[in-house]
Amino acid sequence: MYLEIKNLSKTYGANKVLDNININLEKGKFLCLLGPSGSGKSTILHSIGGFIDHDGEIILDNENITNLEASQRKVSTVFQSLGLFSHMTVLDNVMYGLKFNQKSLNTNQKKDLAYQTIEMVGLKGYEKRKPTALSGGERQRVALARSLVVKPKLLLMDEPFSALDQKLREKMQLEIRKIHKDFDLTTIFVTHDQSEAFKMADEVIVLNQGKIIDKGPAQRVYNNPANKKTLDFIGQKNIIGNSYIRPEKVKISDKGEEFTIKDIIFMGSTIELFVENNYKQLKVLLLNDNFDKKVGDRIKLRYDMEYIE
Ligand SMILES: Nc1ncnc2c1ncn2[C@@H]1O[C@H](COP(=O)(O)OP(=O)(O)OP(=O)(O)O)[C@@H](O)[C@H]1O
Ligand SMILES: [Mg+2]
Repeated sequence: MYLEIKNLSKTYGANKVLDNININLEKGKFLCLLGPSGSGKSTILHSIGGFIDHDGEIILDNENITNLEASQRKVSTVFQSLGLFSHMTVLDNVMYGLKFNQKSLNTNQKKDLAYQTIEMVGLKGYEKRKPTALSGGERQRVALARSLVVKPKLLLMDEPFSALDQKLREKMQLEIRKIHKDFDLTTIFVTHDQSEAFKMADEVIVLNQGKIIDKGPAQRVYNNPANKKTLDFIGQKNIIGNSYIRPEKVKISDKGEEFTIKDIIFMGSTIELFVENNYKQLKVLLLNDNFDKKVGDRIKLRYDMEYIE
């Protein structure tokens, strides 16, 4: 296994914020960490990056890096705050990482490498600019270039797109996906945005109170969550006792059960309905495709609930 995290635990005072975390990741895989605020996502990244003390072991590419300094780990981190130097040009920001990691290269080789990486993230021609003269998305890409220029064995990203608007965010998601594939780069990504996680990830890990409560391919975790806590956190759902159905799985059907429409929420490409009858309430997600009913109308719905413990 390329990355092995064994029994990673972390306590602050009496507070156990990571409780026996085990992660195995193959080379070139993209892993997303999901979980509520405070569940320990950043603490896992900080442990892997070498920024905090912890219990347990971290093995990367057959090397035990647990006791190495952050700068010795061949792990690059893109933090939410980016941490660019505003008094330095794009080129100098990108070259900065090479100071510590690539001592064998001379200045010209470092420059070449930095130019190549800047081109790779789509910023060719911006080398002499300072971060203050860049847009949010461009700054984001400088931070990415600075992380990639050192050719890390592992790239860690902690909510890197949270400051970007939707359009830029989607553009960066596609770019990261491409860079990840082109360079066979093993990546761990933290996001609050579940659709972002599903879009990018080969695998997801769901955390709750410092513990892993589900892990696996993104589709499996969404379609078949391992337990109620995961279901609670991932995606939208209607829960009745120990059964649930996702709103998009509820279908309009002449043979279905009758409900009254209580609310209709237009969301652009989709429409959310809130319906109820004497027995239950349901949320329904439909594509915006010739839906002509109004609040108060009746609608027949088919829904096959799934069992969950
Ligand atoms: N330096 C610290 N001292 C004490 N407690 C800390 C410290 N850093 C983090 N914690 C606690 O550890 C827990 C996990 O924090 P962490 O930052 O890993 O959460 P997170 O999942 O990244 O949350 P968010 O989604 O809000 O970023 C939280 O309860 C937090 O209060
Ligand atoms: Mg965090």
